[in-house]
Amino acid sequence: MGESKMVHSPLVTYASMLSLLTFCPPIVILLWYTMVHADGSISQTLSYLRQHGLQGFLNIWPMPTAIAWKIIVCYAAFEAALQLFLPGKRVEGPISPAGNRPIYKANGVAAYSVTLITYLSLWWFGIFNPSVVYDHLGEIFSALIFGSFVFCIFLYIKGHVAPSSTDSGSCGNLIIDFYWGMELYPRIGKNFDIKVFTNCRFGMMSWGVLPLTYCIKQYEENGRVADSMLVNTILMLVYVTKFFWWEDGYWNTMDIAHDRAGFYICWGCLVWVPSVYTSPGMYLVNHPVNLGVQLAIYILVAGILCIYINYDCDRQRQEFRRTNGKCLVWGKAPSKIQASYTTATGETKTSLLLTSGWWGLSRHFHYVPEILAAFFWTVPALFNHFLPYFYVVFLTILLFDRAKRDDDRCRSKYGKYWKLYCEKVPYRIVPGIY
Ligand SMILES: NC(=O)c1ccc[n+]([C@@H]2O[C@H](COP(=O)([O-])OP(=O)(O)OC[C@H]3O[C@@H](n4cnc5c(N)ncnc54)[C@H](OP(=O)(O)O)[C@@H]3O)[C@@H](O)[C@H]2O)c1
Repeated sequence: MGESKMVHSPLVTYASMLSLLTFCPPIVILLWYTMVHADGSISQTLSYLRQHGLQGFLNIWPMPTAIAWKIIVCYAAFEAALQLFLPGKRVEGPISPAGNRPIYKANGVAAYSVTLITYLSLWWFGIFNPSVVYDHLGEIFSALIFGSFVFCIFLYIKGHVAPSSTDSGSCGNLIIDFYWGMELYPRIGKNFDIKVFTNCRFGMMSWGVLPLTYCIKQYEENGRVADSMLVNTILMLVYVTKFFWWEDGYWNTMDIAHDRAGFYICWGCLVWVPSVYTSPGMYLVNHPVNLGVQLAIYILVAGILCIYINYDCDRQRQEFRRTNGKCLVWGKAPSKIQASYTTATGETKTSLLLTSGWWGLSRHFHYVPEILAAFFWTVPALFNHFLPYFYVVFLTILLFDRAKRDDDRCRSKYGKYWKLYCEKVPYRIVPGIY
């Protein structure tokens, strides 16, 4: 079994895990409580907490109920079945550090379409009203918080007793193994990929389903959907549709190809994505701002443009790698660096680094449109409260940390070639600034 590479030092892991465990679950609950029960106002929630103390906080923490578990289990089972049984073309993932090449079934668009059509049909034909999900949202988040923690314990045990591939192993420290994960590509049987399930089919799919839920809830409450809610929902759906359209590309990114399946990534996808990522829509349910057609269209167009640029950055890199540099980038032959590196098994391999197009502007330029898109689907909430902007702020911190982590990893992988890349493309994220 290969040695697990330490992503961060033990101290950083302990601090990071402790703060994630201590702060993230209460943040999820307080965010939901403030959006749904405290008019989106942080000061209202704070004054409640000041008045009622810890007991007051415990009183607002909803216990997982039978209906919450039922909703989660039905949704998870439905998504798992779609992942397993819908047809899709066979796709090869990138070569892993241990030299394996994972095989996937690309049926994301089909699963996404079936999910949304089924959900809307259940509502349309009066079989299940999505408002029920909104009405039990706190209990659902609470159940996800506990359930996902138990799921991560399962991943840790599986990594020890039944790893799916040689891309696994312990670094000798229980906490680090649990937090950063034991396996890169854990599977149940040969075909059920756990990370595709947690990251894509549970987490990202919820990002399509919940905005629709919020729209339907507002419609059921007010008899109409405000243009702010429409802009927010359309932009999020365009973003998530883009994600599933490009899902096999996502399997080449850090989340899947580099980060192991541990608490950090799996808990994040199972709890943080459904709750925090969808939160601007959660806020809009009971804050139906009217933007007017013109402003709504400006925001919509700006948001779609950002989502397109973000997609085009990812597409450009992947097209460049797929064709081994034999493609056009912005109408010209790409400029590139041929970077060699040594795998964990001692083999020497080569990767191409693109240094023109979007990837010549800065080393992680794609994060700029990603953050701006999030801003544009939040701004329909206008500026009465800070809380809808929580996701944009969180995303900015996450992506700045991620750019640093990725740079560190690439520096140790490519050595002098990465240094050369940094000389050619000196900025990390924002051209001319950072
Ligand atoms: N909303 C969210 O929470 C969130 C979070 C993270 C990411 N995202 C989005 O997900 C998408 C993927 O982002 P990512 O962070 O996973 O990064 P990524 O696209 O996977 O890019 C980083 C990897 O690309 C390779 N690379 C770096 N520079 C290159 C170059 N010049 N030419 C060719 N390859 C290069 C390196 O891998 P090798 O080892 O293969 O060289 C590096 O590890 C982006 O659209 C991002 O905005 C969203």
